[in-house]
Amino acid sequence: MPFLSRRQLLKSSLATAGALSSGALLAACSTGTETAARSEPDFELNPHLTDFGILGDRLTQGVMSYGNSAPPPVLVARQGEPFFTRLNNSLPEPTTVHWHGMRLPNAMDGVPFLTQPYVYDGESFDYRFTPPDAGTFWYHPHCNTLTQMSRGLNGVLIVKERDDPGFDADIPLNLRDWRLDREGQFIDLYDLRKSGKAGTFGAVKTANWIESPDYTVPTGGLIRVRVVISDVTRIYRLSCKGATAKVIAVDSHPVPEPFDLDFDSFGPGQRVDLAIPVPQEEGRTIRLINSSSSKPWVVASFTASGENRKRDTREIKPLSANPVQKPDLASAETLELDFTATAEQAPKSGYCGTLGFSFWAINKRAWQGASPDPMAPLMEFKLGNSYVLNIRNRTPHTHPVHLHGLAFQLLQSNKRPIRKLWTDTALVLPDETIQVGLVADNPGDWLLHCHIIEHQKTGMSAYARVI
Ligand code: C2O
Ligand code: CU
Repeated sequence: MPFLSRRQLLKSSLATAGALSSGALLAACSTGTETAARSEPDFELNPHLTDFGILGDRLTQGVMSYGNSAPPPVLVARQGEPFFTRLNNSLPEPTTVHWHGMRLPNAMDGVPFLTQPYVYDGESFDYRFTPPDAGTFWYHPHCNTLTQMSRGLNGVLIVKERDDPGFDADIPLNLRDWRLDREGQFIDLYDLRKSGKAGTFGAVKTANWIESPDYTVPTGGLIRVRVVISDVTRIYRLSCKGATAKVIAVDSHPVPEPFDLDFDSFGPGQRVDLAIPVPQEEGRTIRLINSSSSKPWVVASFTASGENRKRDTREIKPLSANPVQKPDLASAETLELDFTATAEQAPKSGYCGTLGFSFWAINKRAWQGASPDPMAPLMEFKLGNSYVLNIRNRTPHTHPVHLHGLAFQLLQSNKRPIRKLWTDTALVLPDETIQVGLVADNPGDWLLHCHIIEHQKTGMSAYARVI
């Protein structure tokens, strides 16, 4: 059993729990005032076990979904407006919801022990925050994460811009694999030998829980496709056939100048928003292709249908930037972050779905993420100060390095030209050092981890404290 009972938990973490709840209360109060009027949630998420036909009529047993539907619902919020979701846990195990990419109060971040207690079977938790940024986000558990995500718990969250950018269709694509056999039943969710390498891949590849879905889109229209890589392992290399797809945002942040999608790589946790001009001829098909494995496949396709909307590609304009603070590089303190492999260690007591081994470390410290006895923060940031982080990958594998609660800007790489994009997840190649900059403008304890969940759960986790 990977979880501590309520009792063990009380015993093992009285001190931290006390510290945690007073901190959590403070943050809850500050969000409470602006949302005091709202008593009804915008959405309710009811994680539960179900059966679902991912392979058509061969029902997969033990799928997890949120809400009354499968796949998990696409949640919609509005930039600058209070957003309220209630989690009602109907799983036979604890869970939490993390809002990936969201700059929110720490107490709403969904990390057990670090920012909130477990939400046990039958319990509820209210998540309230006001998204400062518009764009494509997603939500997932941060508890027994490999199991819960692999079984289905990951959904898309759209935060709408204040001004409608005027697309003829808006299509979220939740991209993920499933560890299923031919009968559609779950096989082992991971293979430990692979956890110490690139991670374990699924056999069935889906978008919105469908293999290569085809969507009908308006002929001659301009469509927005929101790609969310919610898979626990797979890095995608995306391209588009049948139309020129422009990247308009990456990881919720608009790019200053839209650029062509050209076999760009995106790792677990990342999002890419595409503006795609649909062909002017009814029946023509656009294909979104992944080429990151030896056999490329069609992730999803879009077929033109109906009257010609006659939109012009010149109508694709940059979206308005999100209100992120630029780091002051002249005053910034520089910190080194070394991502390395580590010696395997004897398993520690199980909680929150650790895999029991340490294959990876950040600055020589292997930590499995959320735990009842959190180690000291890896870094302490002074609220309001600027920092430069040198993220150094000293392994032969690529790691999507994710930081909660703060946006950061890619500055440079020692290996390749990179765009200075804003993000929450940096894809760091083998032997690459990526320099990023940020302003520590959000107080709290913010997790920093590789988003290949097997890496996260075998040591590649840490957290930064902003005070
Ligand atoms: Cu997608 Cu720790 O998060
Ligand atoms: Cu990794």
